[in-house]
Amino acid sequence: MPVKKITVVGAGHVGEVCAQRVAEKELCEEVILIDIVEGIPQGKGLDQWESAPVEGFDTRVIGSNDYEPATGSDIFIVTAGIARKPGMSRDDLLRTNAGIVESVSKEIARVAPNAIIIVVSNPLDVMAYVAKRASGFPRERVIGMAGVLDTARYRSFLALELDCSVEDIQALVLGGHGDTMVPLVSYTSVSGIPIQQLIPQDRLDAIIERTRKGGAEIVAFLKTGSAYYAPSAAAVQMAEAIAKNKRRILPAAAYLEGEYGEDGIYLGVPCKLGTGGLLEIVEVELSDDERAALGNSADHVRTTLAALEAL
Ligand code: NAI
Ligand code: 2OP
Repeated sequence: MPVKKITVVGAGHVGEVCAQRVAEKELCEEVILIDIVEGIPQGKGLDQWESAPVEGFDTRVIGSNDYEPATGSDIFIVTAGIARKPGMSRDDLLRTNAGIVESVSKEIARVAPNAIIIVVSNPLDVMAYVAKRASGFPRERVIGMAGVLDTARYRSFLALELDCSVEDIQALVLGGHGDTMVPLVSYTSVSGIPIQQLIPQDRLDAIIERTRKGGAEIVAFLKTGSAYYAPSAAAVQMAEAIAKNKRRILPAAAYLEGEYGEDGIYLGVPCKLGTGGLLEIVEVELSDDERAALGNSADHVRTTLAALEAL
C-alpha cells in the first residue's frame, strides 16, 4: 500500500466519507478516524471495517478519541469543526473553527512531526493558515483543499450543459474558497477545444455564478449542514496524489511567498502534489481581468485573516 497511515480528524460528514474513500482506495495500511465525541469514530470506523470483506479492501479503519493511534501518520486530513447552516457564510465559522484547528494542529505536530496536513475546515484559506502556524510545519506540508472541489463543481455543471463526459472537461478555479473564487475561462477546455467555442458567454456566466455559489446551493437543500460527497472526493484525490507520489497538478490552497504577487496568505493556485506534499506552485499567465479577480479574492482572505487576528 502506498503509505502506512492516514488520519482523518473529525468524524462528521466530510471526515467519515474521507475515511471510507481512503480505505476503499487502499491508500494506506491503516486509516485512523478521530473525533471528540465518544463512540462516534469507534462506531463509524468499525462499521467501515466491516464493509471491507464486501468491498474487498484490506486497509484497517480504526476510530479513536485520542491521537495515540495516529502516531507517525504520513498524512492528516483535517475536517474537524462546525459546518455551515442556511444563512451562514464560511466566515461565520471563523472563531469556533480557528480554536478547533489550532488545537488539532498542535496534536498533529506532537504525534507526527513529519506529517503532511490537508486542511478542509472552513473558512478554508484562513484555517490552513492557522494549521501552518499552530503546527509549525513548513508550507510544503500544510495544504488546503478547495480548488479541486470548486473545479469539480464547475466541470460537473459544464458537462451537464454540453451533455458530455466530465472526464473530457479540463478547468481551473483559483482564488479563495468563497464567492470571490476565480474560475478561469481561458483555461477551460473540452478535450482541448476552448470552452468559448462551445458555450455562449451568457450561459458560461451563469455556470460560473452557479460554481461560485455551489456550496450554498447544497446548504440550501440540506438545511442542517453542508456538502460532503464532493468535498471528501476532492480531499482524498489530494491525499492520493501525495501518498502515491503522482505529482499531480491540482488547484489547492498554498501559502504564498511572492507567487501571483501575494505574500503571507493561503490562496488557491495550481500546485504540484507528491511525496513531501507541495512540490511546486505553478504560475500561469493571467489576463488583466483574471489577475484583478485573483487580487480581489486575496484581499477577501486577508480581511478574514485580519478579523481572526482581531478576535
Ligand atoms: P460535521 O459537523 O458533520 O463534522 C465535524 C466533526 O468535527 C464533528 O463530528 C465534530 O464532533 C468534530 N470535531 C469538532 N471539534 C473537534 C476536535 N477538536 N477534534 C476532533 N473532531 C472535532 O461537519 P462536516 O460537514 O464534516 O464539515 C467539516 C468542516 O469542513 C466544516 O468546517 C465545513 O465548513 C468544512 N468544509 C470545507 C469544504 C472545503 O471545500 N474546504 C467543503 C465541505 C466542508
Ligand atoms: C462547500 O463548498 C461548505 O465549503 C463548503 O460545500
